[in-house]
Amino acid sequence: MTHIALANLSTMQKYWLITGSVGPRPIALVTSLNCDGLCNAAPYSAFNYMGEDPPLFAIAIDHYGEESHRPGEMKDTLKNIVEREQFVVNMVDEAIVERAVQCGSDFPAHVSEPEAVGLSLAASTSVSVPRVSEAPIAWECRLYKVLEFSKQRSIVFGEIVGMVIREDLLDAEKLRIRVDRFEPYGRLGGPNYCRSTDRVQLRVPTYMPAVGVARE
Ligand SMILES: Cc1cc2nc3c(=O)[nH]c(=O)nc-3n(C[C@H](O)[C@H](O)[C@H](O)COP(=O)(O)O)c2cc1C
Repeated sequence: MTHIALANLSTMQKYWLITGSVGPRPIALVTSLNCDGLCNAAPYSAFNYMGEDPPLFAIAIDHYGEESHRPGEMKDTLKNIVEREQFVVNMVDEAIVERAVQCGSDFPAHVSEPEAVGLSLAASTSVSVPRVSEAPIAWECRLYKVLEFSKQRSIVFGEIVGMVIREDLLDAEKLRIRVDRFEPYGRLGGPNYCRSTDRVQLRVPTYMPAVGVARE
């Protein structure tokens, strides 16, 4: 095994080591509205859920890097979320993954990515930010907190206030996702992605069978 101390590495060296090894990461295609009402969409994979009570998502958003077309500027997603305090997390599956990744291109702020890549929008119920119609599941979020932990990076916490789910993915009686039918994409390092179609089931064994109840 090779040990690497992180203290003297450059930002990009750390980025490649971390993003190459923490994965697959879920992909949030985040929609948000700018001050003119234009809908922005961008993919974020430094993303996960952080709990149910309150139900929270966290998304780590960099500022645009030195090598980018808008060095040092806030990404549109972060700017819009701070201004409007609302956003929608659209989950990404096979049908939309290529278009979701295209939304990560260096579009100027006045271009609406969903329109540019051929995704359509539908009104949300509990927030004014639209969702991506083609997304299998969309989560309506209100800004809970922004943690600015460096000049270059913030973590946005969103409280989930509603969800929209394609009927075939919901077991309405049990109020559960039909996990066998939901096939989200995952992000690995760089331009590498994976499908979630190759499944295994592993159950946590009960430590004390006499008193424990096996988990579902
Ligand atoms: C699959 C994927 C995941 C990404 N994840 C992140 C991320 O977690 N944080 C981040 O700051 N940028 C991430 N990016 C880059 C942004 O999507 C990209 O900078 C985008 O242009 C930002 O758009 P915006 O200014 O409309 O928010 C990701 C890009 C792709 C393709």
